[in-house]
Amino acid sequence: PAPGWAIAADVVVVGSGVAGLTAALRCEAAGLRTVVVTKARLDDGSTRWAQGGIAAALGEGDTPEQHLDDTLVAGAGLCDEEAVRILVTEGPDAVRRLIATGAHFDESTEGGLALTREGGHHRRRIAHAGGDATGAEISRALVEAVRARGVRTVENALVLDLLTDADGRTAGVTLHVMGEGQHDGVGAVHAPAVVLATGGMGQVFSATTNPAVSTGDGVALALRAGAEVSDLEFVQFHPTVLFLGPDAEGQQPLVSEAVRGEGAHLVDADGVRFMRGQHELAELAPRDIVAKGITRRMQQRNAEHMYLDARHFGAEMWENRFPTILAACRAHGIDPVTEPIPVAPAAHYASGGVRTDASGRTTVPGLYACGEVACTGVHGANRLASNSLLEGLVYAERIAADIATAHAEGTLHARVPAALPLREQPEHPLLPSESRLTIQRIMTEGAGVLRSAESLTRAADRLHHLHAEAREALHEHGKTSEPGVDTWEATNLLCVARVLVAAAARREETRGCHWREDRADRDDTRWRRHIVVRLNPDRT
Ligand code: SIN
Repeated sequence: PAPGWAIAADVVVVGSGVAGLTAALRCEAAGLRTVVVTKARLDDGSTRWAQGGIAAALGEGDTPEQHLDDTLVAGAGLCDEEAVRILVTEGPDAVRRLIATGAHFDESTEGGLALTREGGHHRRRIAHAGGDATGAEISRALVEAVRARGVRTVENALVLDLLTDADGRTAGVTLHVMGEGQHDGVGAVHAPAVVLATGGMGQVFSATTNPAVSTGDGVALALRAGAEVSDLEFVQFHPTVLFLGPDAEGQQPLVSEAVRGEGAHLVDADGVRFMRGQHELAELAPRDIVAKGITRRMQQRNAEHMYLDARHFGAEMWENRFPTILAACRAHGIDPVTEPIPVAPAAHYASGGVRTDASGRTTVPGLYACGEVACTGVHGANRLASNSLLEGLVYAERIAADIATAHAEGTLHARVPAALPLREQPEHPLLPSESRLTIQRIMTEGAGVLRSAESLTRAADRLHHLHAEAREALHEHGKTSEPGVDTWEATNLLCVARVLVAAAARREETRGCHWREDRADRDDTRWRRHIVVRLNPDRT
């Protein structure tokens, strides 16, 4: 499709969570013509759903060095230590700047920030807001700031593909704006710097904590543009998601790690605290260990879920400290004040993504990535709880600084797009929207918490079949499905699912949140390395 309209800018930020809006605010403050495009409304991404908080060495006696140690342990040997050092040393000031931007965090009775603990942290270092509504408060503050400062925004706009010039440098993006408005239809933002901040891909699985918009759009765009993507096999499953039945699909209510941080116990149907004896931190072990502990116990007991018992908090603490979770549980007929909460793991966070350096640059000149879509190297094989909001903040600021420097040095020039990428390329045919459910089921069965060579091969074959069908339809009829957000999302989901499954099959070991039943051990001799994928433009 040929863009019917175009906006010119210095930088286009794709996505409006903590990473995207922070990048946009800092770029705007540096005098850059900035446009934010986002698939739904400004506050519809994953950030709004974050509960526990944002980790930073802000408490008395805590240090960035201790935060670094906890992050490296959780990352199971695959973190980039320099990237983590940047995160933990720049983190505390980045949080203070977020507060200066207008975010209100909970305070302790002594007046400083109230800090809690979560899995893998040896200290109380998680700042939170509204009890368990940290992401909602951060989102509110950033959206307000973006509006107050007049940053140009285009909502309901699904980004399609990257535009590049004759030398392969970034020239902007094409996008499809849904619904009414002056920019209705397919258009483009021409800009020499594009910041991907599109969030995660949790919707590639049936049950996830991620909202419906998390369909891996940024990773799919980057793959089609020939950028390197890394660590996609490391999908983090949150241990404690409210269990709503074995067939629950789509976004599920999260029960924050902070509930365990404040002393809740994980128990089986007999009330046994099964995490004791599995790790020195018991319920507060790193997330992969707790998710595995729960899954193992479920298998041993032939149970569909375990329980989180926090009845001892009492009604007042539940109401004041965890109002969001209390309301979600009660909405589903469970009262955590009087009964244990049924919980099971669900897909939560993509530790991998579009590979970047310490300034958020990807391998395509002018294309940047930050937040969940990026793989900066800070998470390794398993992200430490509450490091994601912090990563979004810190690396978005670094990206804005990098683009501002290029601008000041006079190297940020408008580029002429060489050719408009046709959206329906033979290797990326549009999928019918109902494929989304099929992909989710294939992925949950074959590439979920527990994986094996056999399950992954089966998943790869079934995904290949979906792709082959769509290709055939394109070949025979010259078109497949009607272009629209559902069909584009299904196409993006298939693109990332195939790469994820291939990486998971290749990594023949168990490490971090990648758990292979047929390769129970970590293999540092062969696998202390990353799986980096770059699609040949002629192949999927
Ligand atoms: C939670 O509140 O448990 C989520 C925290 C995170 O994913 O970092």
